[in-house]
Amino acid sequence: MQYATITGWGKCLPPAVLTNHDLATFIETSDEWIKPRTGISQRHISHVDTSALASVAAQRALDAAGLTGADLDMIILATASPDTLIPNIASTVQANVGAHCAAFDINAACSGFLYGLGLASSQIRSGQCQKVLVIGAERLSFYLDWSRRETAVLFGDGAGAVILEATDKAEGVLGYELNNDPAGREILKAGFGTAMDRFDAASLDFYIQFDGQEIFKRAITGMGKLSKQVLAKCQLDKDDVDLVIPHQANERIIDTLVSRMKIDKDKAFVNIANYGNTSAATIPIAICDALEQGRIQPGQTILSCAFGAGLTSAAAVIKWGSRVTPLKTSQAQLPPCDKTGLELVKRAADYFCKR
Ligand SMILES: CC(C)(COP(=O)(O)OP(=O)(O)OC[C@H]1O[C@@H](n2cnc3c(N)ncnc32)[C@H](O)[C@@H]1OP(=O)(O)O)[C@@H](O)C(=O)NCCC(=O)NCCS
Repeated sequence: MQYATITGWGKCLPPAVLTNHDLATFIETSDEWIKPRTGISQRHISHVDTSALASVAAQRALDAAGLTGADLDMIILATASPDTLIPNIASTVQANVGAHCAAFDINAACSGFLYGLGLASSQIRSGQCQKVLVIGAERLSFYLDWSRRETAVLFGDGAGAVILEATDKAEGVLGYELNNDPAGREILKAGFGTAMDRFDAASLDFYIQFDGQEIFKRAITGMGKLSKQVLAKCQLDKDDVDLVIPHQANERIIDTLVSRMKIDKDKAFVNIANYGNTSAATIPIAICDALEQGRIQPGQTILSCAFGAGLTSAAAVIKWGSRVTPLKTSQAQLPPCDKTGLELVKRAADYFCKR
């Protein structure tokens, strides 16, 4: 029987950082409000396109697996903020890493990476593919109305990627569950592309908007339900879980989720303080951070879960393999950035705040 195991991983965070204190210089907010309410201290702001972030994360994952782009059978890129709609940006990454294979984007918002991981593992388990690159990459700073404090403080840019490879060992993605609740379509959205008339000014007035408290509740219910389902599918109990890698939208959502599931809080991996919510990039970035911090050990059982616009939700059980260090240190780098996070968002902030 074929299994699909993670053999490579890489992340790419743009160097410019926007702190809570920076935000307070142009909107009415404060570190005292943001940090306790969300867990966020800072977020990264990209000076390059989403595909550039994705390409660096992808190359780092390939290097960690000791592979080249030419070894890949498929590239799945999860994003809700591509730099081109046509063609997809998986093709940009493909060109940058030198792959000759199927390549496509998926949009399942913040659940996108786990959707991609599930699809990729099924491609491998069916025998269709041997090596698949799965990426989550976002530049949500482009979609924000920087005058709206309720959304501006929550999101950040970044990318993460993993390589899934076929193995005979019973490890890797043991199971996954995906769901979507269209009744929640309206409570989290960015209106871009929804105006019927492309010459209507409203069609250019797009920004992320949501009902925070409603999402908060539905996130916990959705992630909790799918987490229980996927554990049952894999014939595992919550006590078999060594580490939970949840979507990072709000630290209080994570706390409530693990407490309701009666999982020890120390088992939840939390890195939201540094990045905010990076949507589809969140979970692969968290996998990289967990590995760097020694939180992932060989043979561990990891539960990962996410929710996002749609309202999508997803959960996967991953049994980590034997290797927790990269095979090769990557030289992949972004072009240098000579601006601060505040300088990068300044033009957009001035535009939105003066309207
Ligand atoms: C957005 C979120 C942090 C708001 O927290 P909350 O405790 O629900 O706060 P509320 O929306 O009730 O706002 C409370 C007050 O703080 C104010 N406020 C909102 N954002 C603020 C900010 N950034 N800084 C300062 N004050 C803020 C509100 O205006 C409100 O003021 P009022 O009482 O005078 O009306 C929280 O609901 C959340 O995280 N929801 C999930 C959002 C999410 O994850 N979205 C993406 C999904 S992938």
